[in-house]
Amino acid sequence: MSWVTCSFWSSLTLQVISDFDMTLSRFGCNGRRCPTSHNILDNSRVISEDGKKKLKDLLHYYYPIEIDPNRTLEEKRPLMVEWWTRAHDLLSQQKIQKGDIAQIVRESDVMLRDGFNELFDQLYKYNVPIFIFSAGIGDVLEEIIRQANVFYSNVNVVSNYMDFDDSGVLKCFKGPLIHTYNKNNSVLQGTEYFQQLSGRTSIILLGDSMGDLTMADGVPSVENILKIGFLNDKVEERRGKYLDAYDIVLESDETLDVVNGILRYVLLET
Ligand code: TMP
Ligand code: MG
Repeated sequence: MSWVTCSFWSSLTLQVISDFDMTLSRFGCNGRRCPTSHNILDNSRVISEDGKKKLKDLLHYYYPIEIDPNRTLEEKRPLMVEWWTRAHDLLSQQKIQKGDIAQIVRESDVMLRDGFNELFDQLYKYNVPIFIFSAGIGDVLEEIIRQANVFYSNVNVVSNYMDFDDSGVLKCFKGPLIHTYNKNNSVLQGTEYFQQLSGRTSIILLGDSMGDLTMADGVPSVENILKIGFLNDKVEERRGKYLDAYDIVLESDETLDVVNGILRYVLLET
């Protein structure tokens, strides 16, 4: 069934599944890149100069691989595990204090996409659950949405969470590791989240990576799915693949206007 058959969409059967970094958060502002949840920590005052350099070297090596349209997902997967493992090991050596995270986020350049207030407010008002499925750092992204005053009770997050020792110092990351290309049911075992929402058979999926397309794989009975993709980087090279995989592809759009327009239509009609 086509997603356009809007009479089948309603606030009672709808759920939103979204990536976080570079999907709910902005990719750029005034020609400058905005940070991912990892970059927020990497660039912060709590990381040593040596740690910063090593994290940056990893980014420069692995990010082009992550977005390379000419490599298969099978090729990329082990390399992403390598990147995340090495980055998390480096961060775990930096004696990051749990109590510093809020200030680190406040001092960062992170920005949510324009229109985030309307998105979160509408979903809360109409009791529509939003599931944020992120390969970023859960503690950091939760703090971002808390500081933006939109961490409502209908917002659920699955991500990589930090594990602190008794004195509140980061010792490692909790498993299972989530990277760009394993965002599927394999890392949701035991969460029961989608099973509890079995009546929510219409999905709006938001992502910016080809890896985000599998985020709804654990939903038991999907009747309608509308996949909206933000194509942020290497636009010319990747456009073809994005147009094949996503229903709507947004280029050079740092807003959530299209998503909000569709939601307004679905929620106000029903
Ligand atoms: P997302 O799934 O919420 O978009 O988060 C994953 C992004 O995080 C992915 O695009 C790559 C990025 N990333 C960093 O910026 N630095 C890092 O050290 C790692 C491991 C990932
Ligand atoms: Mg992303």
